[in-house]
Amino acid sequence: MFYESIREASMKIAVIGTGYVGLVTAAGLADLGHDVTGADKDGDKIKKISWGDVPIYEPNLEELLKANQKRGNLTFSYDLNKTIQACDVIFVCVGTPQHEDGSADMSQIEEVSRMIAENLNKYKLVVEKSTVPVKTSAWIKRIISLYKKSDKEFDIASNPEFLREGSAVSDFLNPDRIIIGVETERAKEILVKIYQKFQDRILITNIDTAELIKHASNSFLALKISYINLISNICEKTDADVELVAKGMGFDPRIGGRFLKAGLGYGGSCFPKDIKALTKIGEEMGVNMDLLKEADQVNAGRVKVFLEKVKKALWILKDKKIAVLGLAFKPETDDIREAASIRIVQELIKEGSILRLYDPKAMDNMKEIFPEEHYRLSYSNSPYQAIEDANALLIVTEWDEFRRLDLRKVKKVMANPIIVDGRNIFEPADVREIGFEYYSIGRK
Ligand code: UGA
Repeated sequence: MFYESIREASMKIAVIGTGYVGLVTAAGLADLGHDVTGADKDGDKIKKISWGDVPIYEPNLEELLKANQKRGNLTFSYDLNKTIQACDVIFVCVGTPQHEDGSADMSQIEEVSRMIAENLNKYKLVVEKSTVPVKTSAWIKRIISLYKKSDKEFDIASNPEFLREGSAVSDFLNPDRIIIGVETERAKEILVKIYQKFQDRILITNIDTAELIKHASNSFLALKISYINLISNICEKTDADVELVAKGMGFDPRIGGRFLKAGLGYGGSCFPKDIKALTKIGEEMGVNMDLLKEADQVNAGRVKVFLEKVKKALWILKDKKIAVLGLAFKPETDDIREAASIRIVQELIKEGSILRLYDPKAMDNMKEIFPEEHYRLSYSNSPYQAIEDANALLIVTEWDEFRRLDLRKVKKVMANPIIVDGRNIFEPADVREIGFEYYSIGRK
């Protein structure tokens, strides 16, 4: 068979798109022993990556990229046409940003599909890895069929990623499942071979199912977070402690303790987008999606709940010096997409507060939205600099660095010993004993 060569020889894999998903996928596939080319039309980005200058912060990614570049099984190119021609398997990892109405912008996927069509010089397997709405593969297939100039065959597959930012490399190298959505035996064989190392964790489905598994998983986790946040609102009206409620619930293996952390809610490039996209897809199909809509509403309300606490602590926010610790949408990343910090800072700016912001990794990204010269805010070099003379300290992202703060020292340098903790990183009794007024989520 004509794809015999692919099965026997080592596979040449292209990973198109060098964002979070693309870079981790390229490095991870190379680490599994495959011959991988990471490709992106952004030439500057590719040059930087080739020199070892990784554009994002993701633990262990730089090391994995470098090790595999050195081994010779990972290269980068901005020549998409040449890369597509040279490769047998093409992983599509380009972005699918969100339109105003919640639907995903599929223009980059379409562009890559057309390129694949134009460069179909031999059989290729096109694997869609970006989070995409159900039926996207059918569109990719249609676009390639429509624009292809040769009679060469191709297959489409869906292999959704489940990487978490901040632990994406270890998630790739030790996945809890590999979902392979295919419609032909040959596509299945190729993907099973690529992921041979994880054969005990492979689930093979049709393409629609694979696409839906991704959306359904993310929306379910988002639902879980909104659920515990809803419960935290009840805790605040009673003597219940949401941390213990979550712990008690988590002992039940049917529920599980993970993703039951109450706080400022979910952010990032995935949950907010995916829950809206699945809602939109369902509604287009005539399915009532109120359950997910409500979960997203609960999430949208988290910043308000938090700011009410800040107001309760300070009353008037105008001219108050407020230290905001944590800007990334979660720890161990520099990503601020859909981060609660953005709305919090926006609101505090409106109120006329004087802000001092600090984050171990995300300040450069935040500066692009809130440059120091345009607002009454500044970026600090350390948490201690941020809190100097502050009227209140806000915890917005639960970086370990903040858990390790010397709270006695913190108390000394602040103007007023007030902490509003949106992530419940401290024990209320401990901080109060030091002399702080302490506000957290879902507990007294
Ligand atoms: C999420 C999924 O966890 C991954 O499996 C998936 O591959 C990825 O989206 C994606 O679709 O690409 P990620 O967005 O990196 O990964 O981050 P998570 O660790 O899932 O956290 C998402 C948000 O939920 C963060 O803002 C986090 O602070 C918040 N969260 C998480 C909570 O508020 N409470 C929790 O208990 C857990």
